[in-house]
Amino acid sequence: MTSHPGFQTPAAPQQNTRQQSAEQTRYAQPGLDRAAHQPYPGAHPTAGAHQPGAVLAAHALTKTYGATVALAGVSIAVRAGEALAIMGASGSGKTTLLHSLAGIITPDSGSIELHGDGGRREMTDMSEAQRTDLRRTEFGFVFQEGMLLPELTALENVALAAMLCGIERKRAEHAAGEWLAAMGLRGMESRRIGELSGGQAQRVAIARAQVTGARIVFADEPTGALDSATSSDVMTALLAATSRAGRSLVVVTHDPEVAARCDRTVRMRDGRILDDSAARA
Ligand SMILES: Nc1ncnc2c1ncn2[C@@H]1O[C@H](COP(=O)(O)OP(=O)(O)OP(=O)(O)O)[C@@H](O)[C@H]1O
Ligand SMILES: [Mg+2]
Repeated sequence: MTSHPGFQTPAAPQQNTRQQSAEQTRYAQPGLDRAAHQPYPGAHPTAGAHQPGAVLAAHALTKTYGATVALAGVSIAVRAGEALAIMGASGSGKTTLLHSLAGIITPDSGSIELHGDGGRREMTDMSEAQRTDLRRTEFGFVFQEGMLLPELTALENVALAAMLCGIERKRAEHAAGEWLAAMGLRGMESRRIGELSGGQAQRVAIARAQVTGARIVFADEPTGALDSATSSDVMTALLAATSRAGRSLVVVTHDPEVAARCDRTVRMRDGRILDDSAARA
C-alpha cells in the first residue's frame, strides 16, 4: 500500500463535554468547535513575509498582463489554522493573488515562502512539476463552480483526488466516503454531480479538497453561485473542514457574510492590499 504523509480521513470522534450549537455540529468533524480553535499564537499585526507561525508568506508580489497591473507589490502571510478572506472590487487582483499563492501562476517578481515540516521552500524557485506536486498533495481547491467531473459520481470525484496522490483505490474510496459523510452527504455517494444541488456539489468539492490532507485550502468565490441560505451551509462545511481542523483557508469572496465568518479579512484595490483586519486587531 502506498503511504502518503498528508493523506487523511476525517478526525475520529472524541468526547466533547462542551455544549455545541446545532450549526457547529451539523457538519462537524467530531471534536472540532470554535472554542477549540486557537488563533495563531503571537500573531503579528503587519501582513508580510518572514512571520513566525506563517504557513505561507508572500513578499512584494507583482504581476502584470500587458498594460494591466494585476498585483502591484503585495505582501501577505497566511497563518496556520486561520481562515483568511480576500475581498475587493472586480478586477482588484484577488484571483491573481490567490493563484500566485497557490502556485497556479508565477508572479513577475517577489517571493512566496512555504513553511512546513520540510523547512522553508521558495515557491517561485520551484519547477512546474514541483508546483504541480505541491498543488496535488499540500493544497486543496474549491472554485465557484466546483470544477467536479460530471461523468463521475460524488464518491469517484473525491476518491480520484486521493488516487492522484498515490493512494490505492479501495483506501481512497473509503476515505472519500468518510469525507462525504462528514460533509453531510451520506447516501449521495453514487449520485453524479448533475444529480446534486449546487450546495451539495460544493460540499463534494470541499470533501475533494480535504481528502488528500491539504494543509491549505484555496477557495475562489466558493459560494458565488449559491443562494444565501445554501451559501451559509457551504461556509459552515468549509470552516468545519479547514480552519477548525487546524488547516488554513484562503477564501476570495464578494460576500460580507462569508468574510464575517472568517478570522481575518484583507481588502484589495488596484492590485494592492488596502486594509488588513489583523493590523487593526
Ligand atoms: N490571464 C489574464 N490576462 C490578461 N489580464 C488578466 C488576466 N488575468 C487577470 N487579468 C487582469 O488582471 C486584473 C486582476 O484580475 P483578477 O482576476 O485578479 O481580479 P479579481 O479581483 O479576481 O476580479 P473578480 O472579482 O471579477 O473575479 C484585471 O484587470 C484582469 O482583467
Ligand atoms: Mg476573481
